[in-house]
Amino acid sequence: MERIIITGALGQIGTELTLKLREKYGEENVLPTDIKEPEGEALKGKPFEVLDVRDQERMKALVSEFKPDTMMHMASLLSATAEKNPQFAWEINMGGLVNALETAREFGLKFFTPSSIGAFGPSTPKENTPQVTIQRPTTMYGVNKVAGELLCDYYHEKFGVDTRGVRFPGLISHVKEPGGGTTDYAVEIYFEALRNGRYTSFIDKSTNMDMMYMEDAIDAIIKLMEAHPGQLKDRNAFNVSAMSINPEMVANEIRKHIPDFELDYDVDPVRQGIAESWPNAIDSTEAKRQWGFDPRYDLEKMTEVMLEAIRNK
Ligand code: SER
Repeated sequence: MERIIITGALGQIGTELTLKLREKYGEENVLPTDIKEPEGEALKGKPFEVLDVRDQERMKALVSEFKPDTMMHMASLLSATAEKNPQFAWEINMGGLVNALETAREFGLKFFTPSSIGAFGPSTPKENTPQVTIQRPTTMYGVNKVAGELLCDYYHEKFGVDTRGVRFPGLISHVKEPGGGTTDYAVEIYFEALRNGRYTSFIDKSTNMDMMYMEDAIDAIIKLMEAHPGQLKDRNAFNVSAMSINPEMVANEIRKHIPDFELDYDVDPVRQGIAESWPNAIDSTEAKRQWGFDPRYDLEKMTEVMLEAIRNK
């Protein structure tokens, strides 16, 4: 991996991914793209291209000009947004993926795209969810993610495209807030703790979901992409998680730093329903075994760095 084009580069993952890849591979070797121009300082003035992932022609033209060896396809609507407009989600999530895979096939690119814990459903084992298990999700996002995993496998088997992916849990970061995800509470809670000393959670008390700190997520992407292909048995997509947490657990950890922090609940039935259809805790053993997945942040350490970073903003 030496020269990389990224779609959805202004999203929650894409923003930090772009910065990290530029640091590691050189600014001129990373081309971030998104459907709109960047607003923040971080990406301004650097190479950047506007790209709607539904436009295969423009995607191919950009690749033909930039000549990357790797594509990281991050553009996607998250679970709650997708549920509001399922047809549109299909267009972006599946249409975009097909275009990206076709581009990777034509230009011989290595390919990464994230799947999610959303690829599981109510009939999946909830605890210690295995790498290979029942996947019958009940959300449009989940349907897209399962189809995406299979399609990436297909492009590898049929056309030899070097496709790789992980099933990300909720990702927690202070650089860019997520939008429209079921796990977003776990980011909002830190911002609100510092802004107002209180938070109203749309996810219920004891609902456990998998989470991971963004730095670990970015490291996982790079590690997986740099792994020797011979090491990979599963490819699309590996379970990865660093912690299984619920709102009460996060609040208790925040209170170690902000003793008066208050948490109450106004549960959103849609997002609560989605959360309940997902596993409580997935098993990341295969990612650890096959390519050395090794997250460094637990809830305690993540809470420390989140609060510190938001305070310094
Ligand atoms: N964070 C995502 C969501 O909640 C899960 O992949 O939609």
